[in-house]
Amino acid sequence: MEVVIVPDAKSGGELVAEAMARLLRRKPDALLGVATGSTPLPVYEALAAHVHAGDVDVSRARIAQLDEYVGLPAEHPESYRSVLRREVLEPLGIGMDAFMGPDGTAQDVQGACEAYDRALAEAGGVDLQLLGIGTDGHIGFNEPCSSLVSRTRIKTLTEQTRVDNARFFDGDVDAVPHHVITQGIGTILEARHVVLLATGEAKADAVAASVEGAVAAMCPASALQLHPHATVVVDEGAASKLKLADYFRHTFASKPDWQGI
Ligand code: GLP
Repeated sequence: MEVVIVPDAKSGGELVAEAMARLLRRKPDALLGVATGSTPLPVYEALAAHVHAGDVDVSRARIAQLDEYVGLPAEHPESYRSVLRREVLEPLGIGMDAFMGPDGTAQDVQGACEAYDRALAEAGGVDLQLLGIGTDGHIGFNEPCSSLVSRTRIKTLTEQTRVDNARFFDGDVDAVPHHVITQGIGTILEARHVVLLATGEAKADAVAASVEGAVAAMCPASALQLHPHATVVVDEGAASKLKLADYFRHTFASKPDWQGI
């Protein structure tokens, strides 16, 4: 696992967007796995800047969703499909025909989950999966005690996650659905490159447990330790509880530029 400590959220966004841009130059039809939440926004802004500057072509890029609320109509402004359309697809000029995600309104939720896992595999798998992290160490919506080999399935949110996400529902925690569909941890680990971005001190405990703690279902993001190409990008706040912070700084500072992350 590579840990990169960046000065702030903006430079973290630029670093990850550069990795996506390099991937797209090498593989123009790459499948990018994208996450919601506030943390990835600087990535999407920086990638859109690359596109508008003409130094990367996303006309063949494909986008895959990580997770979704169950029961919110797709056109609800806070369904993750709507959020990703607004924050990723439209700014990049990518059409919905290049987008894939689970159906949060399906009658047969389990069937929809299995269909999504199959669709990801049939699409050739995710090339780069961007993740945020919850304050309890969740990735996607895999809450603590999720199986580390789980597949896409329905999950019940913890109250903490519902409280954390209430800000997207005008602060009304009752409006946050209890149930979600999320790519499983096993599904996420099938991506060729997994990049977790975390910013701010509120994420420092979760980051330290994920990077330096034991691999444990209590901290779902710790499963990234099992991935052959996992990159954790953190700002100073999110890095503030890492014991090996100086080592991580030194390692990245000595890395040749051409290697990227
Ligand atoms: C939600 C999403 C996660 C995201 C997390 C953190 O739970 N399902 O994918 O990582 O929020 O969000 P934020 O980046 O806003 O802190």
